[in-house]
Amino acid sequence: MSPEHFVLHGFLHIHHAMIRDGYRLAGACAAATTDDELGALGRWYERFHGNLEDHHRAEDDIYFPRLRELDAALAAKLDGLGEDHHEVDAALAAVAQAFANRDRAAAATTTAHLAELLDEHIKAEERLVVPATMRLMSTDEQRALEQGLQKAAGISQIAFVLPWLIDGVRPHERGDLLKQLPLPLRLMHAMFWRRRYARLSRPLAAGNATAAPHLGGIIGRPTGASASP
Ligand SMILES: [Fe+2]
Ligand SMILES: [Fe+2]
Repeated sequence: MSPEHFVLHGFLHIHHAMIRDGYRLAGACAAATTDDELGALGRWYERFHGNLEDHHRAEDDIYFPRLRELDAALAAKLDGLGEDHHEVDAALAAVAQAFANRDRAAAATTTAHLAELLDEHIKAEERLVVPATMRLMSTDEQRALEQGLQKAAGISQIAFVLPWLIDGVRPHERGDLLKQLPLPLRLMHAMFWRRRYARLSRPLAAGNATAAPHLGGIIGRPTGASASP
């Protein structure tokens, strides 16, 4: 099969948002000085946590089994990514516990650990699955897979996920991202979700300076461009 382009754009945008906000969260937790500040970060984290668990489930149940089916030689490396998910899930649970205990010191250390783990895992995952996907799947199959991954993540998450992905991308990429969505979702985003997410995520702004050095060329990467052959 000849090489194909990588068209799982939502998959890449979610990864970039995870790395970006893993570091922003860690910076904001380190800077938090009151229980109220920590509580506000905890409310944002609840949605982030749920979304990461959904993302791992979709990869473990849908995406990785399909790659394994197409090339059995990938099995050991894909198993390694599945093991990473367990490690990240444990780190996510430790952060949730720190928020539940209103423990600012624990929140700072557990979120710093989570940010590093997410960064390492996501980069390792993209190094493996992006070239494998281009080699093994047609663009039509990739588009069908992306729809399956989105359905598995659940429509109830969309009010969080959409503004979360758009937060931090460059204006011209924001337009491209929105153009790919059905009109009702674009309207919901413009009228309700964008403002609601801006309020929910405001406490993360305290972590922007911490996030920036880690983002390099990742934030705002043109849609799918670096993954093209
Ligand atoms: Fe993953
Ligand atoms: Fe992933």
